Amino acid sequence: MRILVLGGTIFLSKAVAEEALRRGHDVVCAVRGVSGQVPAGAVTAVVDRSAPEGLAALAGERFDAVVDVARISFPWVRDALEKLAKTTKHWTFVSTISVYADNATTGQGVDGKLVEPLVDDAAGLPTAEVGERYGRIKVASENAVREVFGEDAFIPRPGLITGPGDLSDRFGYWPARFARGGRVLVPDAPAQPFQHIDARDFAAWIVLAAEQRLGGTFDAISEPAPLPEFLGEVQDALGVPAELVRAPEAKLTELEIKPWGGPGSLPLWLPADYAGMTSHQAQPALDAGLTIRSAAETAVDTLAWERELGLDRERKAGLSPAQEAEVLASL
Ligand SMILES: NC(=O)c1ccc[n+]([C@@H]2O[C@H](COP(=O)([O-])OP(=O)(O)OC[C@H]3O[C@@H](n4cnc5c(N)ncnc54)[C@H](OP(=O)(O)O)[C@@H]3O)[C@@H](O)[C@H]2O)c1
Repeated sequence: MRILVLGGTIFLSKAVAEEALRRGHDVVCAVRGVSGQVPAGAVTAVVDRSAPEGLAALAGERFDAVVDVARISFPWVRDALEKLAKTTKHWTFVSTISVYADNATTGQGVDGKLVEPLVDDAAGLPTAEVGERYGRIKVASENAVREVFGEDAFIPRPGLITGPGDLSDRFGYWPARFARGGRVLVPDAPAQPFQHIDARDFAAWIVLAAEQRLGGTFDAISEPAPLPEFLGEVQDALGVPAELVRAPEAKLTELEIKPWGGPGSLPLWLPADYAGMTSHQAQPALDAGLTIRSAAETAVDTLAWERELGLDRERKAGLSPAQEAEVLASL
């Protein structure tokens, strides 16, 4: 097949291009070329989705499948459809679990209530200012893809994407932290559900969906497991002795430790009223061909990626050793 990846220089879209090449497909990556390199073997089409006529390099091209990872721009999605839909058989639009309006109710499926669609372009905004626009623009983008492709629209909604290549520093905090050993601060959140999807598993499913012309909307995620169990698998996989010190959630809140991500956070920890965000129905995706590798494999490979980035770097997510020591001393 001839596959166009709108992206291909970083993380998920790069993993999709790599997987498609590995399976013998012809791959074109449409990028500006500023975030990194496309994988060896892929053809680069230089585009700029924020520029007028920015997709000119793709005029007249025909593809069996297109994979679009547009994060926060409805016009990017609309323009790609206008330019390419007539000459493309199958369309993947990578959405997000942030399209759901209710983050508290556990066990929701794709029929869960969505946030209101928003036709907007937030691509130029600093991340901190995107806020609720993220999920709302994704809803509008999903709708646009479904309107054109109907049953051939493949719309996976991932939760946290993990694995090598992740630049958000969230999941990677844990392998990196366990690898340092010693007394490790963890949230005392025995009931918190947790789900994720390794970018490589996600990429494999996206390419499979294109090969099989799989359509439909899915939550693209692992089965939920309690966060302590998941972190235990990560720790065991790395084989480094570490003493877990459980911090009560009230204490973390009192000390203004942020949940989930960002600097000064305890990554992946979520307040109880967000339990719905990490307990979506995984079975429909698993039934449709998604496979999930072990947490151990994701952890070991992510630690190698963390080492490439430098374990002592200033992180985009997590506590610095000094911040962690301060919390440990206060317990
Ligand atoms: N990370 C998570 O945990 C998570 C969770 C849920 C959903 N998602 C979704 O998963 C997807 C992640 O995609 P990703 O990992 O590939 O990263 P991404 O940051 O969404 O995509 C980056 C790609 O877009 C290209 N790009 C950026 N600006 C461009 C422009 N103006 N014109 C043309 N291309 C441009 C980049 O290449 P150049 O810079 O080289 O042009 C790069 O290859 C997104 O849709 C995100 O919303 C992520």
